Amino acid sequence: MTLSFTRTANTSPTSEERRAEILANPGFGSHMTDHMVTATWRQGEGWIDAALEPYGDITMSPAASVLHYAQEIFEGLKAYRHEDGSIWSFRPDKNAERLNASARRMVLPELPVEDFLTSLRLIVEADQEWVPAFGDGEKSLYLRPFMYGSAAFIGLRPSTEVKYSVIASPAASIFTGGPKPITLWVAEKYARAGAGGTGAAKCGGNYASALAGQIEGAEHGCDQSVFLDSSTHTYVDELGGMNVFFVMKDGTLVTPELTGTILPGITRLSVLELAPEFGLTPVERRVPIAEWKDGVASGDILEVFACGTAAIITPIGELRWDGGTAPSTAGEGGGEVTRGLRERLLSMQQGRTDNTYGWMHQLV
Ligand code: PLP
Ligand code: COI
Repeated sequence: MTLSFTRTANTSPTSEERRAEILANPGFGSHMTDHMVTATWRQGEGWIDAALEPYGDITMSPAASVLHYAQEIFEGLKAYRHEDGSIWSFRPDKNAERLNASARRMVLPELPVEDFLTSLRLIVEADQEWVPAFGDGEKSLYLRPFMYGSAAFIGLRPSTEVKYSVIASPAASIFTGGPKPITLWVAEKYARAGAGGTGAAKCGGNYASALAGQIEGAEHGCDQSVFLDSSTHTYVDELGGMNVFFVMKDGTLVTPELTGTILPGITRLSVLELAPEFGLTPVERRVPIAEWKDGVASGDILEVFACGTAAIITPIGELRWDGGTAPSTAGEGGGEVTRGLRERLLSMQQGRTDNTYGWMHQLV
């Protein structure tokens, strides 16, 4: 049975002037829209009390399980306005599937795909004025569905009450200044996830564990850090919030294979599927960090880029580690394949090309 959502409009929404001011320069993740979606799950009852309501603070017991044991998962996707005013999202069914995969790993209840899609449609419909205009650069409305254990119980067990919510935030590119190459630090001391752990789930704990490595990178003047496998510190996993790709001289487009410690990115999946359009053979395999350190200088690696919903496709420039650097192959705005894939994805998301793969899903 699909959920039915009650709807309560925000009677004191953000003024038109203020909204225009925010949309002119949204940054990333700082401004929220006027509404949110909420639903509750209770053991024995299932999902109840689904609602679209005014955006506002949430209250919870200080004993709520999420605050102590981090039983929490989230998703991230964007809503794009097309030229005719309609609003679309990119492969949201994949986000629904990944939310449920994360839920299974974190012992949270699954949310039916249809209800997930309805929750996106409701918030975007209510806050459609917040979706940036067609042609306004790379701006979009970032949607953040999340779920957490809310039962007040300090004992360690899966929460018997869970909240699901969706909030939305207008977004420009996550990196200021467009697709400028980012400098990466190799986090050799810190891992974000370990074998048998939660790396493949989109749960908050993974991001908390990546912060120290991220800060270490920043202290070395880097924009982001790349994490290695925690067992041997030999293979490339991913960045704190992005997957990584290598364009190789031999015509392959390589990304680290999903070993359980890497988030299966939807952009990653799409890039693998688009590779043949660029005459490249997609390959998922383990990538030794030594191959990266040496491959740029030897010419075996032509381009390196990061990808994700927030990052879209971002060229990677210099790689730095404790004791060395590998130079950038990215030039000013990334290599040819990086730029080509970026434009291919963006043109689809923004509705400037046909929906050939059927990846775009209309919300409004
Ligand atoms: N890896 C991590 C750790 C992420 O947080 C994200 C962002 O969601 C990605 C990769 C890219 O995933 P997607 O392309 O689905 O946004
Ligand atoms: C996304 O790209 O959607 C992410 O979740 C990255 C993020 C942690 C800002």
